[in-house]
Amino acid sequence: MLTRGFDPSLSVGSARPAVFRSSTYVFSSPEAAERAFDIMAGRAKPEPGEHVDLVYSRFNHPNAEILEDQIVPLEAGAQAALVFNSGMAAIMTALFAFLRPGDTIVYTVPIYGGTQKLIENFLHAWGVAGAPAPAGNAAEIDRAIRNAENLRVVLIETPANPTVIMTDIRRAAETAAGANREKPLVMVDNTMLGPAFQHPLELGADVVLYSATKYLSGFSDLIGGVALARERALIDKIRSMRSLFGNILQPDECWILDTRLPTIGLRMNRQSKNAQRIAERLHGNRKVRKVLYPTLFDDPEQRRIYEAQCQFPGAMFSIELRGGKPAAFQFLRTLKLARNAVSLGGVETLVCHPKTTTHSGFTEEQFAQAGVTDGLVRVSIGIEDWRDLLADFERALDAI
Ligand SMILES: Cc1ncc(COP(=O)(O)O)c(C=O)c1O
Repeated sequence: MLTRGFDPSLSVGSARPAVFRSSTYVFSSPEAAERAFDIMAGRAKPEPGEHVDLVYSRFNHPNAEILEDQIVPLEAGAQAALVFNSGMAAIMTALFAFLRPGDTIVYTVPIYGGTQKLIENFLHAWGVAGAPAPAGNAAEIDRAIRNAENLRVVLIETPANPTVIMTDIRRAAETAAGANREKPLVMVDNTMLGPAFQHPLELGADVVLYSATKYLSGFSDLIGGVALARERALIDKIRSMRSLFGNILQPDECWILDTRLPTIGLRMNRQSKNAQRIAERLHGNRKVRKVLYPTLFDDPEQRRIYEAQCQFPGAMFSIELRGGKPAAFQFLRTLKLARNAVSLGGVETLVCHPKTTTHSGFTEEQFAQAGVTDGLVRVSIGIEDWRDLLADFERALDAI
């Protein structure tokens, strides 16, 4: 991505992108303005190589264009991208672009709490039926896909948060394509392992969604979202919704996010190596009942999915502590290097207690179904020295 997607000649020769803070753009002629509106509204298609004037920054602006062009090469199989002012904005806008009253969306659970609320509380009231299917359970997911009426979208989050259970993307995409009717769109929230370690578009997904707040930005200092697709036409549909909703990422944030992209592979590799080392060592600790991490699962189906679709296990694992909530809270209180905060994917290590924070809106049934227990602590490993982090974790475990 260092060599693609940015043309210095369009930014007075600057080697790295400049920031364009304008809210509106001066047309080169009234004819050019008319043409830009025709293209924006979908009444005309740009000719190959045609220069189309920019219009207004709610629709598009140079920093969004630069960032989108630079993100595309990071996502194998993607033709086009869109940037949003949060991960939820990307998810919401992609869903609204395709779902209509009377449609069904099949989605894996557990799924990010905001996504779950959007589907169960909000879309439901607009006449869209949500059909949850357990993450990692291919037979149940197949059944949900086959039984759904007017199935329009299959939304998969893998690995699932916070249990790190992996779902077979290729199988879900094949089942969706095989049903005898109009093919539903398969969307994957790739926040947990992408764009470095998992490539859903190559496995048959149509749309990939990100909370760019996480690994893509990597420093826990901005909120953003991205949608990418195998077909440009899908992105065009989502783009028209983004223009209506006004949730494009602002120029300054685009510029910041752009500065983070060249190091995403380096950061994710280091974070994943750190996490692997620490997770393996915590695995045998007597205060720990279970470590949930892709390379530590015993279930042969989970191992198969990992081998088939993930290059490395990533920076996130969860540990289930013996002693329930008091043990978990004592652990969080004692840690010194790892900070007690939600979010993940940043260069600094963060830990949280999902049952009382990120997933606190769940019912008891949902907790049980998702495997979110009182003793569960979610960990997102950063780029610190892993030995320092391990010592911090072991000291906090000793204090329980
Ligand atoms: C997997 C996943 N998807 C989406 C989101 C929502 O992203 P944002 O907070 O950027 O809106 C999050 C946030 O935690 C997430 O973890």
